[in-house]
Amino acid sequence: MRKSLLVIVIIALNSCNKTNSKAKTFDSMNNTVVNSSIERKIDSLLEVMTLEEKVGQMNQYNGFWDATGPVPNKGNQAEKYEDLKKGLVGSMLNVRGVKQVKALQKIAVEETRLGIPLIFGFDVIHGFKTIAPLPLAEAASWDLKIIEKSAKNAAEEAAAAGLNWTFAPMIDVSRDARWGRVMEGGGEDPFLGAKIAVARVKGFQGNDLSSPKTIAACAKHFAAYGFIEAGREYNTVDIGTSTLYNTVFPPFKAVSDAGVKTFMNAFNELNGVPATADRFLQREVLKKDWKFKGFVISDWGSIGELVAHGHAKDLNHAAELAVNAGSDMDMESSAYVEELTGLVKEGKVGKELIDDAVRRILRVKYELGLFDDPYRYCNENNEEEVTGKKKFHEDALDIAKKSIVLLKNENDLLPLKKQGMKIALIGALANDKTSPLGNWRLAAKEETAVSVVEGFQEYKENKLEYAKGADLVIPNTEISMTQEVQVNTKDTSEFEEALSLAKRSDVVVMVLGEHGMQSGEARSRSTIDLPGVQQQLLKEVYKVNKNIVLVLMNGRPLAFPWAKDNIPAIVESWQLGVQSGNAIAQVIYGDYNPSGKLPMTFPKSLGQVPIYYNHKNTGRPIREGNVFWSHYSDETNDPLYPFGYGLSYTSFSYNNLKIKVNGQNKVHVTVDVKNTGKVKGKEVVQLYLHDVYASITRPIRELKGFEMVELEKGESKTVNFELNEKELGFYNNRGEFLVEPGKFNVFVGGNSKAELTNTFILK
Ligand code: BGC
Repeated sequence: MRKSLLVIVIIALNSCNKTNSKAKTFDSMNNTVVNSSIERKIDSLLEVMTLEEKVGQMNQYNGFWDATGPVPNKGNQAEKYEDLKKGLVGSMLNVRGVKQVKALQKIAVEETRLGIPLIFGFDVIHGFKTIAPLPLAEAASWDLKIIEKSAKNAAEEAAAAGLNWTFAPMIDVSRDARWGRVMEGGGEDPFLGAKIAVARVKGFQGNDLSSPKTIAACAKHFAAYGFIEAGREYNTVDIGTSTLYNTVFPPFKAVSDAGVKTFMNAFNELNGVPATADRFLQREVLKKDWKFKGFVISDWGSIGELVAHGHAKDLNHAAELAVNAGSDMDMESSAYVEELTGLVKEGKVGKELIDDAVRRILRVKYELGLFDDPYRYCNENNEEEVTGKKKFHEDALDIAKKSIVLLKNENDLLPLKKQGMKIALIGALANDKTSPLGNWRLAAKEETAVSVVEGFQEYKENKLEYAKGADLVIPNTEISMTQEVQVNTKDTSEFEEALSLAKRSDVVVMVLGEHGMQSGEARSRSTIDLPGVQQQLLKEVYKVNKNIVLVLMNGRPLAFPWAKDNIPAIVESWQLGVQSGNAIAQVIYGDYNPSGKLPMTFPKSLGQVPIYYNHKNTGRPIREGNVFWSHYSDETNDPLYPFGYGLSYTSFSYNNLKIKVNGQNKVHVTVDVKNTGKVKGKEVVQLYLHDVYASITRPIRELKGFEMVELEKGESKTVNFELNEKELGFYNNRGEFLVEPGKFNVFVGGNSKAELTNTFILK
C-alpha cells in the first residue's frame, strides 16, 4: 500500500476514536469494558499492518538515559533509533520528561509508515518526583483511601512528564524479610494485599484512562516472585497449587477483576517453568479463567533469560516459548523483534497469537487516548505546574504519618514534651536527606527528603543537638540503584561525641536502620539485623542514657530483640519519602497519634524466616512435656512483633463479639470497640477466621475483614463485618473454589494475636 493511502486510513481510524459509550459492552465476569468501536478500529489497523510492524508493537526498548537492569549487548543507541523509525518499536521504558517523550513520539508518529504512537512506561513505584512512603510503608497505614490518593498523585505527576504507563503496583505476597523487594509490595497477607492492590490500580487508572492525569497500571510480577527460595533475588520458586491459588493469586485476581490494563510476568521459575514461558499462568489462568483483556509484558530481559534458566535452547527458542505462553510484549530482550517474524513464517508461532498480542497492546493505546492525540501527555507548561505541587507534598506528609507504626512505648515516654527538654538526635540516618526516599525513585532528586533533624527543628522550644555517632555507609563510596551499598562495619571513631551528647540530654532519639538502597531489587540480605556498627552504638548509648526513642528506618522487617527488651520506645518509620522528617517529628511530639499496623511479621531472628501469621497448625503444635513438637530448641516460635500489630497513644478494648449465621454462607459479626485511654485515636479493627478442619488444611488464622475506626476518649462503637462465600471458602489443589461446612473460629482485635474469640458452625 502506498504511504499516502495508508496515512488516510490511519487518519480516518483516529478521527472516529472518541470513546462511544453506547458502543461499550460490559463484561460482568471481569469488570473489563470492551469498547466495540475501538475493536473495529483495531481490526482495520491489523489489516494494514505487516507482520514486521505487528512484531514491532510487541517490542519494548529501554530509553537512552537510565537503566533499571543489565544493559544488553544488542540494541545500541543508533540501532534503536533505526528500529524506531522502521516501526519496530511499540513502547519505550525509562524515558521521562515531556521533552524526551515528545522527541521519541514524534519519530513514531511522523517517521514510521503507520504512525502508531508509542506507549511510555516507567517504574512509578511510590511517587514520581514527589516521593511518597515505600509501598510497604503505605501498606502499614491500612488506609485504602489514602493509598489510592497516593497512587493518583503519582499518576498525575508522571503523566505530566509525558508518561502513560507505570510498572506498578507490585503485588507479590511475600513472607521473607531477606528479599529486598518486600519494600515494594503490600506485605505478607493476600486479603490485605488484594485490597491495597485494587486501591493502587484505581489511583493510577482513575475512571477515565484517556484523561491526561491518569496512567495505565501494571500488576506485577506474575507470579510467585515473592516466594523465591531463601529470599535470594531471582531464585527458584517451588510451591503447591493451593498456596498459589490461596496466597499468591488473590491480589492478581482482584486487580484483573478491577480492570488493570497490564500485567508483568516474573524473573523466577515456578515449579520448573520460568514464569515468562508459563502458559498455565498467562494463557490458562489470566487470559482464559480471569478473562483479562489487557496485555502482558515480560520483565526486563526475562525472555532472553529463558536460556540461562535452562528452558530455551537459544534466543529464537526463547521467543517462541514466551509468545506461545502468552507474553505479549518483550522488555529489552530484543527476542521478539529479532526472532518472531521468522518463527511465524516457519509456522512455529501462529499468526493469530501475534494478532491477539497486538490487539491487546493497541487496545491499551486506544484507551489511553494516544491515537486521538499522541502528545496528550506532552504539555511542558502543565509539566512545570504539576511537578512537585504543594498538594502532593501535603498528601505525602499525611500518608507518611499514617504509615508510621509505634512498636513500643514504655511508661508513656512518647509523645515527647514540646518545651524545656534537651533532646539528642543520634545516627547517620537522622541527618540524611536521600536515604528516606528509598529505592525505586529514579525520577526524584537526591537530597530532597526532609531529614529528621529538620523535622525536629520545627519544634523550637526544646534544645536540639545532633551527633552522627557513626557512618552507616563508608564515606565516598557510590550509592546508586546499580551498585552494592558499602556498609561501615568498622569505624566507631565518632561514638565518643555521640555518647557525650547522650549523657547531657534528657531524651535520646536514635535514628537507625538500613540505607534506602539496601532494599529494592537485587538487595537480598543474609542478615536482618541493624547493619554495620549501629547495634553497638545503640548499646553504648544505652549505657549512658536509657531514655531512648529508637526510630527505625528500613525497607524490610528487621530483627532487633535486644532493642525490644531494653529500649523504652520504638517507632517504625520505614522510608517515608520527601516528608519523612516532618512526619516522624509530628508523631514523636504527638501532633499525630500513630495508627499504623505492621503489614509483615517482624521476626526475632533470621532462623525463623520465613515467618508469617497465617501459617498452618502442623500435627504437633503444642508442647507435651517433651521435645517432640514443632519448635526450635534455641528460639520460641513467636515473632518479635506480629502481623497487624501497632500501638497508639491511647488504648482500645474489645467486647461483645457476636456472630449470626444468616442462611447459606452468610455470616454477620459484630464487636464493640472502646477508646479506653486519654486521647482521641484511630484503631484498625481486624477480623481473623480459622476454618478448624477442611479437605485442604487451613491456616491457624486468616485476615478476612478490617475497618479503621476513630474514637474520642471514652467513646465506643459497634463494628460490623459480613463474611460471604469469598471469605469462607478456599481453593483446593486443583484450583477449585470450595466452601466446606464445619466449625469456624473468629478472632477480633487490634492485631493477628487477637484474643477475643467466638465460634460458628457452617451447615
Ligand atoms: C524489575 C521490574 C521493573 C523493570 C523495569 C525489572 O528489573 O523486575 O519490576 O518494572 O525492571 O524497570
